[in-house]
Amino acid sequence: MQQVTQPAPAFSSVGIIWIKLAIVYLMIGVGIGIAMGASENFTLRPVHAHINLLGWATMALAGLIYSVFPQAGMSKLAKVHFWLNNISLPVMAIALSLLVNGHREIVPVLAASEIAAALGIIVFAANIFLNLKKA
Ligand code: HEM
Repeated sequence: MQQVTQPAPAFSSVGIIWIKLAIVYLMIGVGIGIAMGASENFTLRPVHAHINLLGWATMALAGLIYSVFPQAGMSKLAKVHFWLNNISLPVMAIALSLLVNGHREIVPVLAASEIAAALGIIVFAANIFLNLKKA
């Protein structure tokens, strides 16, 4: 009897959680954009930009990269990257919203979240350089 071999899947599923969360950030970011346009109040412009760019664009790209290169996507560095990104970004978005509305006392929280977000990007870079290899 002839054996039927299944073709290997082209992509790993490791990036799915990144891409689904990226879509959540996109909906929130776009929601803020629509609210700004409708109210003609653009105070939250930097919040909108950071949620869309760090949340949607960077997360979705990381998810796609991790799906194509699962050695990088399944590494410890990817887990550290994931948590640094997804803890720092919501804190940053809330702290930045408060700051642009006049709450200067939030600056230390904002600074801490920004440092954590930057660390997440450094871990991402380290992961790419150390773990992106030919299969
Ligand atoms: C339906 C979708 C969107 C709506 C309704 C929207 C709306 C807006 C509005 C009203 C502004 C302020 C414009 C001004 O001050 O003149 C803005 C700025 C901006 N948006 Fe969006 N936006 C959308 C999607 C996106 C996406 C997907 C991204 C990035 C991936 C993005 C990135 C930015 C950036 C970088 C700025 C400039 C922020 C700044 O100047 O501080 N937007 N958007």
